[in-house]
Amino acid sequence: VTTIRRASIADGTGLAELRSAWHSERYPDDEQSYIDFVEQFATWWSQVQESHQAVVATDGGQLVGMGFLALVARVPEPGNIARRHGDVQSVFVREQFRNAGIGTAIVRSLIGMARESGCDKVTVHSGTRALPLYEREGFHHFDRLLVLDLH
Ligand SMILES: CC(C)(COP(=O)(O)OP(=O)(O)OC[C@H]1O[C@@H](n2cnc3c(N)ncnc32)[C@H](O)[C@@H]1OP(=O)(O)O)[C@@H](O)C(=O)NCCC(=O)NCCS
Repeated sequence: VTTIRRASIADGTGLAELRSAWHSERYPDDEQSYIDFVEQFATWWSQVQESHQAVVATDGGQLVGMGFLALVARVPEPGNIARRHGDVQSVFVREQFRNAGIGTAIVRSLIGMARESGCDKVTVHSGTRALPLYEREGFHHFDRLLVLDLH
């Protein structure tokens, strides 16, 4: 049985391992060691507790999926001081666990967290595979979001 729960500070290592698994899936020829990365990631995770939330999917005690919500502070306006929006990032499900609804459950949970945090909008920079999933959950394309690549 798969369970979705809010990630805690203690999940830093598990989240890093999922991030590494995703990286080696995308770059199978990249032979870098993940030992330093896992430690660096866990440190990063402990430092962004104010601005980032995450959920994990667990199955039999193993972490099988994750997703992040970055809370982006927006410039206040009169009558709305605590403006912010949520940015969904790094949604990933281990290959053997895909196409069973886990990715959708992760995204729904992140949207719920964005609501609870008072976000007025949620954005996501989707990968090709995840597009139909986000569209099903109500995300729409917005043609005035412009992107300038700096490298
Ligand atoms: C994108 C990703 C997170 C989706 O995770 P997932 O757990 O497979 O997602 P879901 O199972 O909820 O949805 C995937 C498909 O399975 C289908 N599905 C969901 N539940 C199902 C079930 N019980 N039985 C059969 N099919 C099911 C969905 O309809 C969906 O179909 P579609 O997207 O082709 O229209 C996963 O493929 C992944 O980790 N990919 C690599 C990383 C990535 O691209 N991340 C996105 C970056 S933002």
